[in-house]
Amino acid sequence: MREFTEETLTAAVVERLKDAKDKRLRQIMTSAVKHLHAFAQEVHLTEEEWFEGIKFLTAVGQKCDDKRQEFILLSDILGLSMMVCALNHKTAPGATEATVLGPFFAHGAKVYEFDGDLREGCTVKGEDTLVVGRVLTTAGKPIPNATLDIWQAKADGIYDVQTGGEFELRGRVKVNARGEYAFKSYKPKFYSVPDDGPVGELLRATGNHKMRPAHMHAVVSAPGYQQVITHVFVDGDPYLDDDAVYAVKDSLVGKYKKVNDAAEAKKLGMSTPFLKLDWDFTLAPERGVKARKVIAPSDAVA
Ligand code: BEZ
Ligand code: FE
Repeated sequence: MREFTEETLTAAVVERLKDAKDKRLRQIMTSAVKHLHAFAQEVHLTEEEWFEGIKFLTAVGQKCDDKRQEFILLSDILGLSMMVCALNHKTAPGATEATVLGPFFAHGAKVYEFDGDLREGCTVKGEDTLVVGRVLTTAGKPIPNATLDIWQAKADGIYDVQTGGEFELRGRVKVNARGEYAFKSYKPKFYSVPDDGPVGELLRATGNHKMRPAHMHAVVSAPGYQQVITHVFVDGDPYLDDDAVYAVKDSLVGKYKKVNDAAEAKKLGMSTPFLKLDWDFTLAPERGVKARKVIAPSDAVA
């Protein structure tokens, strides 16, 4: 067949996908082609605009390296990452809700026992914070020996991995036999997503800001339970209603309470005043659910 027109082209392209061995690939490509063609038709895409799009995607690819993932950032600011998260994580009642992973997770962080200090070696001082809590089942029972992978930006809004030095404010925090954890860190601050690339240009061109509300990242894992990739946001943050990557959920907003009691500070190894976040994570049983696992079993903390 030849002489394709605006009316016949989509069906012809879809027809050529019919022999794809992988049926899921065929389904995905068929839908992608139909939506791409419909999009071009809806906006009546000009050749100049098509080429601008090609140049933009080329620039996104060229900005990527082993530390920077501009395509994930593009997916984040278009809400696609959160859409995929929402589609795949219907949280079991009572379990901690999932949200985006973001581009700054890193394997190989130091393991911290109960009451570890993630501020060790941190090059930017922030507000001293003690984070305590438990990892629980949805029935409220402690889950001993769970692991929390924790990471957050420094007080200047930059993640350790963005500057390529040692790990900072990042660690694999072990939960004790009673299902409790505690670690020292700094209070997170709001920050900007990387905006020195094509995604930053797109944000500016569309009149959007680049800020994320303050948060601490956590991946909570325990054998026999669904791993959860989540955040704890900071109550009162000015960007909670306007996150550049749409990741905020009410159930994930925590209160950092000021403690002025010098005796309590001394007992806990903190200086006065300090902030305290008391936060429980709740995991649903695995029960054969195909889970998203960022931390492979080989990464498990011994
Ligand atoms: C983050 O929270 O680390 C993040 C998420 C999406 C885009 C950029 C940063
Ligand atoms: Fe973050």
